[in-house]
Amino acid sequence: MIYSRIAGTGSYLPEQIVSNADLEKLVDTTDEWIASRTGIRERRKAAEGETTGDLAFHASTRALEAAGVAASEIELIVLGTTTPDIIFPSTACLLQHRLGANGCAAFDVNAACSGFMYALGVADQFVRSGQVKKALVVGAETLTRMLDYSDRSTCVLFGDGAGAVVLEASSEPGILTTRLHADGGYKHLLYNPVGVSAGFRHDEPNAGVRVMMTGNEVFKVAVKTLDRMVGETLNAAGMAEKDVDWLIPHQANLRIIEATAKRLKLPMERVIVTVDRHGNTSSGSVPLALDEAVRSGKVQRGQNLLLEAFGGGFTWASALLRY
Ligand code: UT7
Repeated sequence: MIYSRIAGTGSYLPEQIVSNADLEKLVDTTDEWIASRTGIRERRKAAEGETTGDLAFHASTRALEAAGVAASEIELIVLGTTTPDIIFPSTACLLQHRLGANGCAAFDVNAACSGFMYALGVADQFVRSGQVKKALVVGAETLTRMLDYSDRSTCVLFGDGAGAVVLEASSEPGILTTRLHADGGYKHLLYNPVGVSAGFRHDEPNAGVRVMMTGNEVFKVAVKTLDRMVGETLNAAGMAEKDVDWLIPHQANLRIIEATAKRLKLPMERVIVTVDRHGNTSSGSVPLALDEAVRSGKVQRGQNLLLEAFGGGFTWASALLRY
């Protein structure tokens, strides 16, 4: 039996820090409101000219180094993003060339905030089937590029960042299960209306290139859906709550994370939280949290990790893996 296992992790955050106090100067908000409703205290913002591909490159270089794998050995790159550098070529192709991994398969996955989890699920299948031995899986975003800094309901939530993992074929587990889901019926609650085929300019009032979100509705569905997915993931892996050593969740809102931890009967000391410092980095959030957990020494080899995300689509996805 072939498993894919994580051989190395990496991440990258842009330098500029945007604090809640900085946002108080732009919109009618307070540090107290943002911190108590979301858990966010600061987030990062990419510099002018710094792209999703740049963040992905730095995160990937670090992951390859941690894995002791050369870029030329990579046979597949799957990159989750909803903020690609340009429409085409894909950010995965731009990254591939920059890394010097030319020739291997490379493509983007757009599953909004579940982008990295989808990318991981896809890459896992390639490794399990024996088609590739080494894959690079990336989640990278510059969400701040599509924020409206006059809309307090969204501009305080998101930040920029990237994370990456190198997957390697192994006879030992490894990723035990990945679960990928979507329900396009919820498009109206979280979306960006601008696009190529629908038109670069949109006639919806106040639309523009920006995130449109009915936050409290998204919140309710996210909590319920993640609750359900945790059970499904444990069942698929033949495990119980007590077998999970760490929850590494999507970092959208501390209250959502706490609800999922409660469902898993895990104390918050066993949950990786970065939302306070990173905000919601969409596809970047899970691999950023994973890399931080690994590098800080919290997550140890042999431990069971539950990774999950929920986002626009709606999409939701999880992985249960032995690190
Ligand atoms: O990653 C993709 C998935 N996304 C998510 O998971 C996000 C899920 N949603 C959330 O995290 C939360 O719903 C939010 C943080 C977005 C909002 O928190 P909430 O507790 O659900 O607040 P709300 O939307 O119900 O708004 C409550 C009040 C409103 O004022 P009124 O109508 O009660 O007077 C808002 O206008 O808070 C107001 N408000 C703000 N006040 C100060 C909204 N944004 C702000 C703000 N500062 N930044």
